[in-house]
Amino acid sequence: MRAMHTEDNRALGSVTMREQDYLKHKQYRDASNLNARAQLHARFSANRWGWHRWVFDQLRLHPGCRILEVGCGPGMLWRENLDRMPDGCEAILTDLSTGMLEEARASLGPTATRFRMAAADAQHLPFPDEHVDVVVANHMLYHVPDLEKALAEFRRVLRPAGRFYAATNGRNHMRELHAWLAQFGARLPLGASLIERSFGLGTGKRLLAPWFSEVRLERYEGHLDVREVEPLMAYILSTTAKADLVGEKLEHCTGFFEQILREQGAIRISKDTGLLTAVRGEESA
Ligand SMILES: C[S@@+](CC[C@H](N)C(=O)[O-])C[C@H]1O[C@@H](n2cnc3c(N)ncnc32)[C@H](O)[C@@H]1O
Repeated sequence: MRAMHTEDNRALGSVTMREQDYLKHKQYRDASNLNARAQLHARFSANRWGWHRWVFDQLRLHPGCRILEVGCGPGMLWRENLDRMPDGCEAILTDLSTGMLEEARASLGPTATRFRMAAADAQHLPFPDEHVDVVVANHMLYHVPDLEKALAEFRRVLRPAGRFYAATNGRNHMRELHAWLAQFGARLPLGASLIERSFGLGTGKRLLAPWFSEVRLERYEGHLDVREVEPLMAYILSTTAKADLVGEKLEHCTGFFEQILREQGAIRISKDTGLLTAVRGEESA
């Protein structure tokens, strides 16, 4: 009965994205799924100023600051910006998945000693009050079962006037891909209404307002011009849509994208992504 319930949720692609067991032991057991998706963006984004470089541009880090990243994944933000870390900064990288932390440690190589790493659920952070100057929660809040609990934790561990940053997507992110896959009965997680119901670019400001002040949204411009089908299929198959695309369906879907590529020279896909920035006020929540 329980298994059926889980499968139903998976088919809906809704509860699944907040099922901690599924996230920890399947989707993010290691970085392979996330890497497949990041690769598509890295290779085919029209905006050549890479996402992690752009995110880092928005962070107001000062020498000697202490940063906490929650849901850090394989540490891409830091790997891409090691050359730009202000002197004396300490970064604490945390994730629900120990597999992700292992990959972060491996990918940061010898520089990993500049980072502390800890397995932690964003809803229960193992740090004292007012411990850090900056909290970063990128593309992870839509996975958290109790958003308010996590936001209360972020506020608690931030020093007064500390800064909070949370990247997420909006309702138009990859919208053509969602529509094309629907023709094959396949569904990507985090469709338009789902992303906004959990924590999206359209709802993020309202959701952060009770906890933080000076909430702003910065958008990352650009779209994808995908020029190879294989990495696009790897992106799709790294998600719950894999369960929908079995047998002939997978072949037909691959053929469909090959045809668009032949006819149009590139598969154009919208991106709708950005960063919410906020400040922890002096007053209590
Ligand atoms: C989409 S990935 C983003 C990784 C990284 N922040 C980035 O932007 O590249 C989401 C990450 O959040 C982690 N995660 C999911 N739920 C979490 C929770 N409740 N607490 C901490 N981390 C969580 C996952 O294990 C995964 O590594």
